[in-house]
Amino acid sequence: MKKRIAVLLSGRGSNFEALAESVASGRIPNAEMALVVSNREGAPGIEKARERGIPARVIPSKGLERETYDRQVVAALEEAGINLVCLAGFMRLLSPYFVERFRGRILNIHPSLLPAFPGLEAHRQEIEHGVKFAGCTVHFVDENLDAGPIILQAVVPVLDDDTPETLAARVLAEEHRIYSEAVRIVLEGRYRIEGRRVLLEPPKN
Ligand code: GRF
Repeated sequence: MKKRIAVLLSGRGSNFEALAESVASGRIPNAEMALVVSNREGAPGIEKARERGIPARVIPSKGLERETYDRQVVAALEEAGINLVCLAGFMRLLSPYFVERFRGRILNIHPSLLPAFPGLEAHRQEIEHGVKFAGCTVHFVDENLDAGPIILQAVVPVLDDDTPETLAARVLAEEHRIYSEAVRIVLEGRYRIEGRRVLLEPPKN
């Protein structure tokens, strides 16, 4: 049985597209992109999903309490038989209810080398702080912001003439690469968790 992936997003959806491409090309084998959910009306990622023929739903979050909203999303995910939830620019913290229902089966991509620069505007903060290297992180999601066990990271240099936009573009290319790799590792169960550490195992060929 193919593993069913859902992507939750709020905006552009380039990480969703990278994952969808990886599923379509077999870089993420034995998987199906089964559902895209946006909490925002008009998120470009929703349109991109529909163009690819992937079921896409807007579930508006505006004005709803966190758990009230999350119950609607969890119901949609369960109805679609989702095995793995990938947050990709989903601008919301998940409630303990959501995390518990999909414990160990929710991933997030964050555009910094966590635990440095969690939250918004990582690239601007990195440049202002003067770090020489930046990057991105794929991690399991828990109840805290950008905080769960780290699966993969990738590093890029910060150049003297970088703006938040040029740095973001360099990081984004790495996001697209490592998110697919991390999804494959998790779906194939090629890891074990010791405390906060995610220890990876080699591919079984
Ligand atoms: C990415 O930089 C991701 O790391 C962050 O939000 C951005 C989403 O971009 N969580 P996209 O919608 O995937 O293009």
